[in-house]
Amino acid sequence: MKEIKNIEDFNGRINRILITEEEIAQAIKNTGKMIDESYDGRPILLVSILKGAFVFMADLLRAVTVPCEIGFMCAKSYYQGTVSSGVVKITMDLDQDISNYHVIIVEDIIDTGRTLKDVYELLLTRNPLSLKVITLLDKPSRRLVDFKADLALFTIPDHFVIGYGLDCGEFYRNLPYIAEYSEE
Ligand code: IMP
Ligand code: MG
Repeated sequence: MKEIKNIEDFNGRINRILITEEEIAQAIKNTGKMIDESYDGRPILLVSILKGAFVFMADLLRAVTVPCEIGFMCAKSYYQGTVSSGVVKITMDLDQDISNYHVIIVEDIIDTGRTLKDVYELLLTRNPLSLKVITLLDKPSRRLVDFKADLALFTIPDHFVIGYGLDCGEFYRNLPYIAEYSEE
């Protein structure tokens, strides 16, 4: 991301709202219901990938009514700006044993698929009762590794997006909607 000149420049990069607050809220409500219906009496663990998925996690958690715990991991593939470094690092891990849980990975966006594939394979080695992936956004046209989420709330075209937890250079996570980021 280029240096921010002033607040007009900062706001000017919010190009176009792709997904509104209302659309996000409705999709999350339906997803919460789906999780409720999958409940079989054994606990569910929602695992969120920081930082981007923390906003989605907070809203999804409150749409679930069955017994449910949360955990956090930190995995990074984008270190700054809009270009992937191509390296995935687990910088923070779960602190619980997941073998007695139905684990659902809660992700903000699947782009190349590298981050999620690595996290998914790592969690699978820990023998959860089941392992599923729910992502808020999916950019299938950008995939570099073979990976598919069990549920993608929205499929979007190949454009860098910001808001609702997603950043550009650590900014814009606080926007309540998903918008396209303008490089100009
Ligand atoms: P992947 O490993 O390429 O699938 O990258 C996934 C991670 O890259 C996400 O968890 C995001 O943090 C980041 N990312 C990918 N695309 C975007 C985008 O359009 N906006 C903001 N972050 C993105
Ligand atoms: Mg990010």
